[in-house]
Amino acid sequence: MREGASAAAPALLRAGERAAKERQHLPEGRSRLRDANEKTGTMPELRTLDDLDVRGKRVLVRVDLNVPMKDGKPSDTTRIDRVAPTIDELARKGARVIVLSHLGRPKGKPVAGYSLAPLAPALEKSLGGRKVAFARDSVGPEARAVAAKLEDGQVALLENLRFEPGEEANDARFAKALAALGELYVDDAFACAHRAHASVEALARLLPAAAGRLMEAELRHLASALEAPARPLAALVGGAKVSTKLELLGNLLAKVDLIIIGGGMANTFLAAEGREVGRSLAEHELSGTARDILARANARKTTILLPRDVVVAARLEPGIAARMVAIDAVPKDAMILDIGPATAALLAARIADCRTLIWNGPLGAFETPPFDSGTNEVARAAARLTKAGKLVSVAGGGDTVAALHHAGVAQDFTYLSTAGGAFLEWLEGKTLPGLAALEVAAKA
Ligand code: 3PG
Ligand code: MG
Repeated sequence: MREGASAAAPALLRAGERAAKERQHLPEGRSRLRDANEKTGTMPELRTLDDLDVRGKRVLVRVDLNVPMKDGKPSDTTRIDRVAPTIDELARKGARVIVLSHLGRPKGKPVAGYSLAPLAPALEKSLGGRKVAFARDSVGPEARAVAAKLEDGQVALLENLRFEPGEEANDARFAKALAALGELYVDDAFACAHRAHASVEALARLLPAAAGRLMEAELRHLASALEAPARPLAALVGGAKVSTKLELLGNLLAKVDLIIIGGGMANTFLAAEGREVGRSLAEHELSGTARDILARANARKTTILLPRDVVVAARLEPGIAARMVAIDAVPKDAMILDIGPATAALLAARIADCRTLIWNGPLGAFETPPFDSGTNEVARAAARLTKAGKLVSVAGGGDTVAALHHAGVAQDFTYLSTAGGAFLEWLEGKTLPGLAALEVAAKA
């Protein structure tokens, strides 16, 4: 991933200077981000760390440490590593940093497997050895004691917020109890911005609030890809189901020049066109919707590319015999499990004609080789173009990042979002409650 590569990104996130002057903790003239909004009109106006005077202050930092766990340890530390710079910057500036997160879905009560305790040492490691204290509750006596004991530059992590029913309920009392632990609030959890939960929504209204560095980076790159992109702009949408991505396709139609559809989703479209898809995963009941999307694309002159050839097998199973067939030769008893090589080459060529690519979802059943080859090939083509400075490539959502890691090219994309559901909802054009709360806070 090459953060600096997105020269096309608008400067963004200008904090309102007047609002800054009016607020305690918000010194004059420190706003770093000045010019972008007037130009594009697309970015939310948020405060950033540049607008907060954090020295000696207890700063609540909401991050997303919802990482995959294996044998009681994080098996992928990407999300931890990506928020570490914000925590480190706050600590270096003399803040007393109180880190908030959820893990999994423990449904409002303590569940041992979902404790954040094992993430304290992982966070320490990410912070280059900076010590991280741990409190075994989030609003109880231990959290209060740990918060009170923090000295300037020290960091503490509180227990899983979702052990409390008030978190997911966006409960005002729970938010107040969190707010009582600190004086300032920093939201660095873009991946949670689609959740109207207490630590991302209600809390932002109770304390002077700002976006963290990861939140800034996510918004800058997403906006540069979708709102003010270098064109032509292509969106590659894969994954299993059309039904989960209908709104996404609807919003993309109005914004992009080319839509590439792959994965199980493509089968729904192929079936809607009257093609034989055998026993492939497909949502036949959505045929009408798929035809409607194709017709709307046609009317707007937005190109939708569907597979021209595919890889089929009897079942999705490692090592099973697979063969390539043209799109009009799918056997009745076969399953489509990947795009074919002619399609992969076509997609690579069409992406080469574009200057921006948004990638969400794999093109085939990439976890089960050989059905990873279409995704691998197109991902590598996008990575080569990006490295050559010819393409801005932004990827995110669910399996996408795993698929790009699998292809060995994650580091070559311009930007990989840490968000799953939030990335999707942002692409769908929805208002994300976490961002809305920060926008309100910036105007307060
Ligand atoms: C995510 O990983 O999508 C975020 O951490 C939010 O978690 P959730 O989907 O359980 O709300
Ligand atoms: Mg999710």
